[in-house]
Amino acid sequence: MNDAFLRACRGEKTPFTPIWIMRQAGRYLPQYQKIRADVDFLTLCKTPELAATVTKQPVDILGVDAAILFSDILIPAEKMGLELHFPENGGPVFKNPVRDIAAAKALRVIQPQEDVPYVLETIKILVKELNVPLIGFAGAPFTVLTYIVEGGGSKNFIHTKTMMHTNPALFNTIMDVITQSTIVYLSAQIEAGVHAIQLFDTWAGVLSATDYRNWVFPYVKKTINALTPPLSLVQPHLGVPIIYFVNNCAGILHIAADSGADVIGVDWRIDIDDAINRSRQMPIQGNLDPCVLFSTRPYIQVAAKSIVLKASGAKGHIFNLGHGILPETPVDNVKALVDTVHEMKK
Ligand code: CP3
Repeated sequence: MNDAFLRACRGEKTPFTPIWIMRQAGRYLPQYQKIRADVDFLTLCKTPELAATVTKQPVDILGVDAAILFSDILIPAEKMGLELHFPENGGPVFKNPVRDIAAAKALRVIQPQEDVPYVLETIKILVKELNVPLIGFAGAPFTVLTYIVEGGGSKNFIHTKTMMHTNPALFNTIMDVITQSTIVYLSAQIEAGVHAIQLFDTWAGVLSATDYRNWVFPYVKKTINALTPPLSLVQPHLGVPIIYFVNNCAGILHIAADSGADVIGVDWRIDIDDAINRSRQMPIQGNLDPCVLFSTRPYIQVAAKSIVLKASGAKGHIFNLGHGILPETPVDNVKALVDTVHEMKK
């Protein structure tokens, strides 16, 4: 197996900088669109053979150094007792947002084997077939909470922040059940065979540093601690690298760096050498602006090389975009990026 990605996660030397791309399976690939034309998104996530096929597409088409399980961060939220929809061409929608204690208390901790057998089955297929490591994932508790409380995507997170500020007991009740579900969900993914985990904290960066530190960070730590030996609450065998991706991280990176994760993933709004210093030299993942992939080939090459050079002092560097790849991205430009990063031998 090509283990450059796992070596970089552990801070070991690699012959080249490994690269994978957040949201690398998806609508920018014609091969994905072809499969998606006949099946809705949730059915695709819940059909192991199809989910495994689209997971492998970017590995074969782009030559990336890791695969990420095809699923969604909201799949376990559905099994906590919520009705989830993905309207065509729209973001996720929860019909009945959780905004009072009765609704919060009705949420249940998922049982992965019974509730999401298709996720574990997809992992088992993939670990037999892939020649690169497989990344499992979950949303970080706060990011999942925002969707459950707002009822979908949000611009200003008014319901979420007001709950945090005026009814912390309710906020904590929801965070607690999400955290418990996330721990058992990720443990089951590890047991099924994933080689690494990424925790997506897409919306942590909308908070003040004080709110993040007080209300959100403890749950991130709890999740990661539960998966990390020797503190593992769940299984003794857990020891896969954990990547904590924090979008819009600049104001909270100094806090997020203490999560206990092996790698910190950062967005593009911060220079990667600055992020390395502010995270106190932990292995780093990132951080090209996804919009650079709409520019010219020479521009992409210069921007990618600049990031690799700025990260050359890091204990480990995994190249990635600073957030998910956008649906309209030209595939040839993505290939050029992967080749550029690989050609810069160490
Ligand atoms: O290739 C991969 O990265 C693996 C699959 C994956 C998806 N979603 C598939 C998907 C992963 C890792 C995610 C994570 C995810 N989902 C996040 C965190 C990362 C991020 O981008 O911030 C979030 C916030 C979600 C929630 C979500 N799912 C939204 C807001 C949307 C709609 C808008 C969008 O970004 O596409 C989705 C739908 C979704 N998840 C699609 C895919 C391929 C598009 C579905 C389709 O129409 O085919």
